[in-house]
Amino acid sequence: METIDINKKSKQRQKTLDPMKLEVQEQYMDKVRKINEKWAAEKGRKPVVVIVTFGCQMNEHDSEELDYMLERMGYDKTEDVNEADLVIYNTCAVRENAEKKVYGNLGQLKFRKRSHPDLKIAICGCMIQQPHVVEEIKKHHKHVNLLFGTHNLYRFPELLHKQITTDEMVVEVWDVDGEVIEGLHSNRKFNLKAFVNIMYGCNNFCTYCIVPYTRGRERSREPQDIIDEIKELVSRGTKEVTLLGQNVNSYGKTLDNPVTFAELLRMVNEIEGLERVRFMTSHPKDISDEVIYAIRDCDKLCEFLHLPVQCGSTSLLKKMNRHYSKEDYLKIIEKAKKEVPDMAFSTDIMIGFPGETMEDVQDTIDVIEAVRYDSAFTFIYSKREGTPAAKMENQIPEEEKHRRFDMVLEHVNRISGEISEEYRDKVVEVLVEGKSAKDSNRYTGKTRQNKTVNFDSDEDFTGQLVMVKITDPKSFSLNGEIVR
Ligand code: SAH
Ligand code: SF4
Ligand code: F3S
Repeated sequence: METIDINKKSKQRQKTLDPMKLEVQEQYMDKVRKINEKWAAEKGRKPVVVIVTFGCQMNEHDSEELDYMLERMGYDKTEDVNEADLVIYNTCAVRENAEKKVYGNLGQLKFRKRSHPDLKIAICGCMIQQPHVVEEIKKHHKHVNLLFGTHNLYRFPELLHKQITTDEMVVEVWDVDGEVIEGLHSNRKFNLKAFVNIMYGCNNFCTYCIVPYTRGRERSREPQDIIDEIKELVSRGTKEVTLLGQNVNSYGKTLDNPVTFAELLRMVNEIEGLERVRFMTSHPKDISDEVIYAIRDCDKLCEFLHLPVQCGSTSLLKKMNRHYSKEDYLKIIEKAKKEVPDMAFSTDIMIGFPGETMEDVQDTIDVIEAVRYDSAFTFIYSKREGTPAAKMENQIPEEEKHRRFDMVLEHVNRISGEISEEYRDKVVEVLVEGKSAKDSNRYTGKTRQNKTVNFDSDEDFTGQLVMVKITDPKSFSLNGEIVR
């Protein structure tokens, strides 16, 4: 197999829809569809594709765009890798585990390809933005047919066409930072709740993190494009949106006419028909009082703040390049609790960063006890090639990381349970998402504080706001009775 390797370096900034790019995409979707129609006529069925998505909502969103393109190109969908003629892995690089899974799956597909030589394998997403991964796949996984990165997703039809017509391994990874391409279609998975990207990339370079290398520099979408997208979603039945970015608090800085995140929140709050607005992720160094005031003042903004602390030790936070101290963080929480008394908090916590001492772990536990998080995502530090932390001294042994992780988790879980218990006999507003299990009258939904609530009902209130009295709180969800 030969490699077509096009490594484009471009600094072009694209702010609005470029009709040319979309036209080219359309042309290639047509070309592939024609090839697939011929294929289908010979085989008596359409080719079948599976997209396996790892990682965060950025990837979920990208997969929805791929899904749209694949449908247009005449593919049927499956969830089962063993049924597929085309397997696409949309990969994540944030921790080693996520990468290991992909390599494991590639190993299995090597076997399947022996009995199904027509099987095509494509890999995209964050792993592919790392040159050492591309080298590894080119060298040791020659059965892969197509590799592309996060910046050139919209070119997928053209790349797929090239692969099909040449039968060579096609590799295209761009090193671009500045593009925002508007007007791409996507197949949204779930209508009631939708994720809306407000910005891409990250400028923060936390010393442990690969994201700035895989997603490029921070760039914001124009507020009008965001508002238009949400209005369109609402017209199709969406009731809740989560505004997404790696650091939403620095939204708008790269725009020609800068807009702050708090201003954007107030604009989104005006959209008629929308019931709830959430956002993530907030970097503590950039959160302004105005964002907290917006949550206080705007009826649609949910009383829920995901504010990743990572760790409670000021000296370790410095080594992480986070730009805030333990005290700065606790001050933000104090302010938020004062302005919005029923605010719920969640966070990301990392255990085992190089050089972490037991005092540092205690600082983290202090923060957990002071904030009292509703929920926390706890991660064990994973060495990422190319990041500064990977070269730091005093890496913590795996076993010790796990011991500390369990210690911290105990505090997180205990507090979660205690907060749930505080809901007993309280009446909460629930946005009903649907049945929790098929063939039952049990429904599930979320409170404004993002707690899961389950209740029985003979009537289907999916998509509506109902009032539920909590009768049986559990650690991670609340059971109750509908009171309307
Ligand atoms: N932009 C977001 C987080 C994106 S990644 C923020 O700044 O909060 C999600 C979480 O993964 C991070 O908050 C961090 O806790 C975790 N993470 C990132 N890199 C990691 C690594 N090398 N090892 C373990 N966890 C990591
Ligand atoms: Fe990674 Fe830090 Fe950027 Fe979050 S803010 S994506 S943790 S570099
Ligand atoms: Fe998301 Fe993983 Fe990439 S967390 S941005 S898919 S590295």
